[in-house]
Amino acid sequence: MAQSSALPVEQYNFDIVRKFMIVAMVYGVLGMSVGLYIACELAWPFLNFDIPALTFGRLRPVHTSLVVFGFGGSALFATAYYIVQRTCQARLAFPWLAEFTFWGWTAGVALGVITYMAGFSQGREYAEFEWPLDIAITLVWVCYIVVYVETVRRRSQPHIYVANWFFMAFLLAVALLHIFNNLAVPVSLTKSYSLFAGVQDAMTQWWYGHNAVGFFLTAAFLGMMYYFVPKQAGRPVYSYRLSIIHFWALIFLYMWAGGHHLHWTALPDWVSTLAATFSILLLMPSWGGMINGIMTLSGAWDKLRSDPIMLFLITSLSFYGMSTFEGPLMSLKSVNALSHYTDWTIGHVHSGALGWVALVSFGSFYHLIPRLYQTKLYSKTLVYVHFWLATIGIVLYITSMWVAGIGQGLMLRGFDDYGNLAYTFIETVEFMHTPYVWRALGGAFFVVGALVMAYNMVMTARASRSEQAALEAKLAAKLAKA
Ligand code: HEM
Ligand code: HEM
Repeated sequence: MAQSSALPVEQYNFDIVRKFMIVAMVYGVLGMSVGLYIACELAWPFLNFDIPALTFGRLRPVHTSLVVFGFGGSALFATAYYIVQRTCQARLAFPWLAEFTFWGWTAGVALGVITYMAGFSQGREYAEFEWPLDIAITLVWVCYIVVYVETVRRRSQPHIYVANWFFMAFLLAVALLHIFNNLAVPVSLTKSYSLFAGVQDAMTQWWYGHNAVGFFLTAAFLGMMYYFVPKQAGRPVYSYRLSIIHFWALIFLYMWAGGHHLHWTALPDWVSTLAATFSILLLMPSWGGMINGIMTLSGAWDKLRSDPIMLFLITSLSFYGMSTFEGPLMSLKSVNALSHYTDWTIGHVHSGALGWVALVSFGSFYHLIPRLYQTKLYSKTLVYVHFWLATIGIVLYITSMWVAGIGQGLMLRGFDDYGNLAYTFIETVEFMHTPYVWRALGGAFFVVGALVMAYNMVMTARASRSEQAALEAKLAAKLAKA
């Protein structure tokens, strides 16, 4: 892997990385707080306050867009721009275009969220933006691709490190998914109708939805993992050959699995079976990647005792392994008959989203912060505090959702001796109240952890500024003497 940099550090464009990292944290804290709020709404519905903009239905896409695109997306911009420069030993191409992607992306997410609260939505999960925003985002994305690929082309060393492969697959796949799933006929500035109808519409949406998970929330974060885990461990990746097999197997298999979101619907049965088969196969590259990441630490396991950043990264890989075991299990038609329409799905989502996506991003940011601000991290203890808050939060979240989901699933299919439903729907809702309260508590832990991190980041930036000022003053005094 690329270790030493041919370019002096000040030659790299770290300004854009810093900006994206800050905005990721801002959107992250906001999005997670909205997540906490809607979790409370589910436990105590009066919190809807009969205000349309605050209802669960409107705030839910606000939450998913802020965390997936605002937090996750900006974290990916930040790390992609950092990794491509370091591994290619080249300065970021077209800095003004990269700057445009920053303002375009940040504004796009903000506008999207405002329009959802106002009640405008395409009604397609994770693709709720109305058509004018979709077009604007496509433009930003194409610029992102241009900046990234051109930087790779300008690399000053022959090899393209594997992390870049994951990022390039993500860039290309997301462009395709976004464009095809959003093909629509506009009827006004704020309303459009999908070009697809019926089962084709559903299949297009879940081809998109599943690959948004596969390429946005997985492949790109694996690119992040393949750079930051070896860097933080101070050793090369466990098996470079395995990382290449991991890459090709993962990107080939993901594309076929979207049908598992539509089991037991009007979707033809063979499509369901095909999707389940590919979902089971996905276990192999997923676990191959997890093992490759974790084993990178072999011979240096003691780092887990002394380095909280390593704890974040290795725990994220463990959650990645867990959610990619649970996913294939849930893709089996018989299991899905129980899990679908229940909170089991929500638990699965968050073991991936909090356990994998958020933890690997936090770990990577902690690695980046001292390098971007050229000073040491303000407090290592606070990193431990954050780690434990986040981990306890995730465990509370996913265990309560297993209880809620599996309980709800079993109640909905329970029959009495006469063949009548054993429970009414409202009884399932009553049953879920307690796990919902626990989930909200878990969410609160997670949000407080993120706030601790934001504080640590601000204090590090402040320390860096005063160190810089002291250095300048010293230099000025020296010059004056001379
Ligand atoms: C404090 C942390 C968080 C809390 C309390 C929280 C809470 C929630 C709640 C209550 C829902 C709605 C569940 C439902 O419809 O029944 C939800 C949905 C969702 N959240 Fe979170 N969330 C958090 C963090 C995150 C993060 C960091 C991500 C992504 C990186 C994320 C991604 C999602 C997704 C994708 C959904 C939609 C799931 C689906 O439709 O199956 N969440 N969240
Ligand atoms: C081998 C890998 C995986 C497989 C085969 C898989 C499979 C599944 C299945 C079967 C569902 C339930 C579909 C339904 O009943 O509606 C699901 C939902 C979901 N999964 Fe996974 N999963 C995997 C990994 C992940 C990871 C790592 C993440 C997050 C980072 C994730 C995020 C989601 C989301 C967001 C949903 C909810 C979609 C929705 O209904 O809104 N999955 N997954």
